[in-house]
Amino acid sequence: MNMQSKSARTLLISIALLALVACSAPEEAEEFRLPISINEAMASLINHSADPIWIAAWQNPQSDQDWRELEHLARQLQVGGALITIPGTGPVDQMWTNRAEWQRYSMALSDSAGRAVNAARSKDLELIKRSGDEIVAICEGCHIDFKPDLPTMNIYGELSPTSDDIGN
Ligand code: HEC
Repeated sequence: MNMQSKSARTLLISIALLALVACSAPEEAEEFRLPISINEAMASLINHSADPIWIAAWQNPQSDQDWRELEHLARQLQVGGALITIPGTGPVDQMWTNRAEWQRYSMALSDSAGRAVNAARSKDLELIKRSGDEIVAICEGCHIDFKPDLPTMNIYGELSPTSDDIGN
């Protein structure tokens, strides 16, 4: 091997090593976070998509379009439940999401919303009511455990009667 090809080979190996170093991820990859706080997700996504499911139990969807809209909202709640397992920008988000109970409530919410999706697809009012009642119990359970001092309960108590409240 002549000098020239030897140094060319050394150069190639150096480039390969450099590429390896450049490609290896930084030791502590930044953990993924939502771009908003969990409280904002509550108001704009979770609460927003859950309300119409409760309302549908007494103000029944009429057209195919109404049912379709309800299906989309239930899907938003389904993905919303899964999203709040990830901390966002709120000061104590991480503390909440680290708790096993938090994860359990969030995924239970997502699962119930998944049942609401199926109910909307099959236009089944009975199942809409049932999943709506499941959902409200999960919201309340988590709020009692994680935000006992804050008055959210009144908000959806007023806006969103469950099928029990209206006696059917
Ligand atoms: C996994 C736990 C959890 C679940 C499930 C949950 N929430 Fe929340 N929610 C919270 C916490 C904690 C806060 C307070 C966040 C804060 O103050 O930063 C909150 C805040 C809210 C707020 C904002 C209220 C305020 O005072 O600013 C609304 C509205 C809300 N939740 C509605 C709901 C509804 C409706 C559901 C069910 C469809 C639900 N939440 C399910 C934990 C939960």
